[in-house]
Amino acid sequence: MATYHKLIIGNCMSMEEIPSNSVHLMVTSPPYFNAPFDYKGLFKSYGQYLGVLRKFARETYRVLQEGRVAVLNIDDMLINGEKVPITADATKIFLEVGFRYRDRIIWKKPEGYLRISRRSGVILQNPYPMYFYPDNLLESIIIFQKGKKFNYRSIPKEVRDASKIDKKEFSDNKWYMTLWEMNNVLPGSPLEKDIAAFPEELPYRIIKLFSYKGETVLDPFVGSGTTMKVARDLGRNSIGIEIKKSLIPIIKKKLGFGKQTTFF
Ligand SMILES: C[S@@+](CC[C@H](N)C(=O)[O-])C[C@H]1O[C@@H](n2cnc3c(N)ncnc32)[C@H](O)[C@@H]1O
Repeated sequence: MATYHKLIIGNCMSMEEIPSNSVHLMVTSPPYFNAPFDYKGLFKSYGQYLGVLRKFARETYRVLQEGRVAVLNIDDMLINGEKVPITADATKIFLEVGFRYRDRIIWKKPEGYLRISRRSGVILQNPYPMYFYPDNLLESIIIFQKGKKFNYRSIPKEVRDASKIDKKEFSDNKWYMTLWEMNNVLPGSPLEKDIAAFPEELPYRIIKLFSYKGETVLDPFVGSGTTMKVARDLGRNSIGIEIKKSLIPIIKKKLGFGKQTTFF
């Protein structure tokens, strides 16, 4: 079955190109406020950042179909020695715009992949109380739902069958837990250079668990296009929004521009 893939270069605070109640799943990773490596000084204030999240949350609620889920990969950010409670604030914002808070998964990265390292090392130089700052290996994956119930009967039998979850894959990789161990993208990876990309495994699990074949997956902060690529590989349509025009060639490359199923 041919799928379509639409890239919108624009600001996801307004998703006017996307009709209301037309999207089946939203999965994304918003910029993490002024993350020291990736987004230093991007937002003037934390209030401005939360304003962006609020408008994006409202638009996500509008475009999602009833009963469907919105998934955010997000985490608190340490800036100048203080943790900014982004996960809690994003959760509150999603509740305020009408979503129900459905669940939270913790993504654990392998110990060898630490990016902000040597924090904990301070204590080796100063082995005394009060010097302790742990290295962060975790991110959150928070899941929200629009409306109370998903109408399982609305899915035709053949689509349901075609979208069946592989029980072995589910069990062997421990998708059933609130702790997901997944590798992260290495900082030096050529296609994701200077983009805080998530690994394909993240949208892969979410798309398989929360959408059916032929449905439409939206990523409003699409970055290098990871969600669009995985959606295409899994026989779903995709819509990506990205504010930086300069990422078009990267997204096209990741999606393998020219393949039959890809249209811009
Ligand atoms: C954390 S990255 C997403 C990375 C993506 N998950 C991937 O795997 O490549 C966030 C992206 O959102 C984009 N962005 C920031 N503000 C935006 C906005 N208001 N509307 C649309 N895109 C935005 C940034 O340019 C950046 O590429």
